[in-house]
Amino acid sequence: MATATKQRSAIVDKAQKKEVAVEVAGPTRREFLYYIWGASLLMFLGQSTAFFIWFALPRFREGEFGGVFVFDGSEVPAQGTNPTEIPAGRLWMANTGEGFLALYAVCTHLGCLPGWNENTFRFECPCHGSRFELNGDFITGPAPRGLDRYSVTLVFTNGEVVASTDGEPIPLQGREIAEVRVDTGARINGPPIGS
Ligand code: FES
Repeated sequence: MATATKQRSAIVDKAQKKEVAVEVAGPTRREFLYYIWGASLLMFLGQSTAFFIWFALPRFREGEFGGVFVFDGSEVPAQGTNPTEIPAGRLWMANTGEGFLALYAVCTHLGCLPGWNENTFRFECPCHGSRFELNGDFITGPAPRGLDRYSVTLVFTNGEVVASTDGEPIPLQGREIAEVRVDTGARINGPPIGS
């Protein structure tokens, strides 16, 4: 009888030890919550870093529409002459009596592409007949305003740097342009009719 009791208690001890061993091997409820919390924190940090990189890096490369186009001063048309078209940037470089400006090449009516007419010395839209001056000002037609403009920065050979973020022409005042930077990601509405 005593031997049987001893054997039973030995079996119970063994089973209890096994339970303890199983409890020690697996994570506790608290540890599990820590793991979940840690994983969430890592995910949050990963997402924050990805968002930071997304916003910090430029969306468009230089020379790609939506980004900045850089030109040598020698590419700028002489004052009062025909404008220069840059199809990749959807822009026209124009050197008017008021100064230099860069025009968005798309008509403000319904998005056709006005061409430059050397004979009439104006932009003419082939779709519904809107006409624009060399500086993009509205002349006639269904367009609701003049041609839109881009933000421009001019670097002069004397080291001066002049920027126009409102689309207004930059007066040259006899200065020679060394470099032109046109930001095709910064478009400004063209001047209203009659302005
Ligand atoms: S799209 Fe240019 S006039 Fe209509």
